[in-house]
Amino acid sequence: MRRAHPRDAAELLALERHFPGDRLSPRAARRLLRSPSARIWLAEVDGRALAALVLLLRRGSGVARVYSLVVAPAVRGLGLARRLVALAEAEALRRGCTSMSLEVRADNAPARALYARLGYAEHARLPGYYEEGGDGLRLRKPLAGGGRGSAGDAPA
Ligand SMILES: CC(C)(COP(=O)(O)OP(=O)(O)OC[C@H]1O[C@@H](n2cnc3c(N)ncnc32)[C@H](O)[C@@H]1OP(=O)(O)O)[C@@H](O)C(=O)NCCC(=O)NCCS
Repeated sequence: MRRAHPRDAAELLALERHFPGDRLSPRAARRLLRSPSARIWLAEVDGRALAALVLLLRRGSGVARVYSLVVAPAVRGLGLARRLVALAEAEALRRGCTSMSLEVRADNAPARALYARLGYAEHARLPGYYEEGGDGLRLRKPLAGGGRGSAGDAPA
């Protein structure tokens, strides 16, 4: 597992092709890779990126957001998503965040199972949230230690 560099745009976009529905555009990928408020991790096997997670940290907000998570089909079920989410949660906690938030398609059963397993609960329903009209769900998870002693330690 490693943090992504600006030169990883092609790797990130290749992985996003495995994403059902809305995907990152090349422009958005390049912008994210340079954004000071984004943290991106890649899971590599034999030098090839096979999974990625994009975390967004907003200045002044205690809520961090998993913006994108994708694992290549050949390596699903091996715990890569679980490890990437754990890295993101640890970073969010280090940045003073008290909870994690994310959106998932209501009909994305594998992703919903993953997040339920990792302690994420439904926070809001988002009818027609996705471009082609698919419904979304906003999920949240309080982070360990959230709300205790982290006030004022907002992410940069
Ligand atoms: C959803 C996704 C990220 C899961 O990645 P993964 O690396 O296969 O997940 P993990 O192996 O880390 O699974 C961790 C837990 O999630 C749950 N889970 C993951 N995939 C599952 C599936 N297909 N069915 C049921 N549960 C699943 C399991 O509880 C699993 O734990 P367990 O094996 O101990 O039971 C992957 O299927 C994917 O990339 N899908 C396409 C993109 C996507 O939907 N991204 C999320 C959008 S928000």
